[in-house]
Amino acid sequence: MKLELRGITKRFGSLTANDAVDLVVEPGEIHALLGENGAGKSTLMNVLYGLYQPDEGEILVDDVPVTFTGPGDAMAAGIGMVHQHFMLIPVFTVAENVMLGHEETKRGGFLDRRRAKRDVTEISRRYNLEVPPDALVADLPVGVQQRVEIIKALSRNAQVLILDEPTAVLTPQETDDLMRVMRALRDGGTSIVFITHKLREVREVADRITVIRRGKVVGTAEPSASTNELASLMVGRPVQLTVDKTPAEAQDVVLDVAGVTVLDDNGVVLVDDVSFQVRGGEIYAVAGVQGNGQTELTEALVGLTTPASGSIDVAGQRITRLSTDQLLDLGVGYVPEDRLHDGLVGDFTVAENLVLDLYDKPPFASGMAMNLRTIASNAVERVAEFDVRTPSPEAAARTLSGGNQQKVVLARELSRPLKLLIVAQPTRGLDVGSMEFVHRRIVAERDRGAGVVLVSTELDEVLGLADRIGVMYRGRIAGEVGAGATAEEIGLLMAGSTSEVTP
Ligand SMILES: Nc1ncnc2c1ncn2[C@@H]1O[C@H](COP(=O)(O)OP(=O)(O)O)[C@@H](O)[C@H]1O
Ligand SMILES: [Mg+2]
Repeated sequence: MKLELRGITKRFGSLTANDAVDLVVEPGEIHALLGENGAGKSTLMNVLYGLYQPDEGEILVDDVPVTFTGPGDAMAAGIGMVHQHFMLIPVFTVAENVMLGHEETKRGGFLDRRRAKRDVTEISRRYNLEVPPDALVADLPVGVQQRVEIIKALSRNAQVLILDEPTAVLTPQETDDLMRVMRALRDGGTSIVFITHKLREVREVADRITVIRRGKVVGTAEPSASTNELASLMVGRPVQLTVDKTPAEAQDVVLDVAGVTVLDDNGVVLVDDVSFQVRGGEIYAVAGVQGNGQTELTEALVGLTTPASGSIDVAGQRITRLSTDQLLDLGVGYVPEDRLHDGLVGDFTVAENLVLDLYDKPPFASGMAMNLRTIASNAVERVAEFDVRTPSPEAAARTLSGGNQQKVVLARELSRPLKLLIVAQPTRGLDVGSMEFVHRRIVAERDRGAGVVLVSTELDEVLGLADRIGVMYRGRIAGEVGAGATAEEIGLLMAGSTSEVTP
């Protein structure tokens, strides 16, 4: 099946999310749609899937114009979509989820469980998409839930499968598995529209690449294109993929963590006797595989949990029992891992989020009154300085893309004088352009003399930014290495081995 988008324009108020986009998906190809966060990729695919009506342009299936009034029409035409946020029902089994809303599996008003299970097993065998048909979706890892979404689309005979940022939630291992599945599908004649902002993946799996920037198609490329070529096409200017930085000029200790232990409600040790120091003017990275106590350590550092034992001092002051508010007053900045839940109030405007902790303090308030004009002018300045892509400072924060939400949090945290900046997974879900920007701001903060704690599971990021690296394994700092350490050395510590390997 050949699919064509011709001159698709989609506007949200004054914002043009898709601007006269042309795109052809040939039968049996993996077509990558590459673009930064906010470029308009999801919008375009939602148009194709019948979720949005285009303001202009048309969709053609095998050269015949079609109109999709909803996803039902798109599915009937052979288009399937796996969204960025899965749409499965957690308390249902895999088979139940696959057959939901699936007319053919209904028999006399009841769902035909046996047939659904047979379909699931058959499809999962054919494409090597291993899933347990009877398991509850809630019990499955994210990577497996994604396979369920793919099976669901295939069980409706999708001939074009849209995958919206499918690798954002996967481990490197799961990403490799998904790529194998994508190739198997393509070899079986299914076309795939693979949405991503990750250059390495595009070059590895795509047959053709279309790049969109600010709603417009800016070019097509072959997978043989270099990472730099693709990056500059995507961002619209040459992009530096590595961070420029001078050696650290470490000053006084700003953070002193001594023997910190954190327990969960059942007394299980999550952070185990962790000690380290961070000086002003240096970036200390806490590296490690996800789930080795980094999140809990970070929460203790910013006063969200109280350690069972040990002490934390910021600039010589004991903070172990201070509230997050008191910490902010001390000059601690915090960019949390989960931006939308911990860093922003989604229903508040961008302008309000930019003064979230300061709205009751001068210059944003005098006495009991909020100074709306100062809040507004602050927002205009910050939005420009941090290049936040938003229709206006009055837009709700939740309507922004992930990268732009991150910029709002950074803009707020970095506009105060900081002694200590704590950033957790700062570029998770971000595109290259925003990533470069965030990295530069973190280094700039270090160069201004702040101590920086960078908690990251991305080894490339750790190696690119850190002046010293502590590697966490099972709640402990398994080892500390300097900026010159290799990925192999750090990898060994991440897997829990110390410098000595027993034969
Ligand atoms: N429902 C919506 N209402 C208003 N603006 C939206 C909506 N959906 C997306 N946008 C805006 O449209 C632009 C493109 O968004 P999106 O298609 O999600 O980008 P991408 O998927 O490439 O990250 C962004 O500026 C985003 O804020
Ligand atoms: Mg998107």
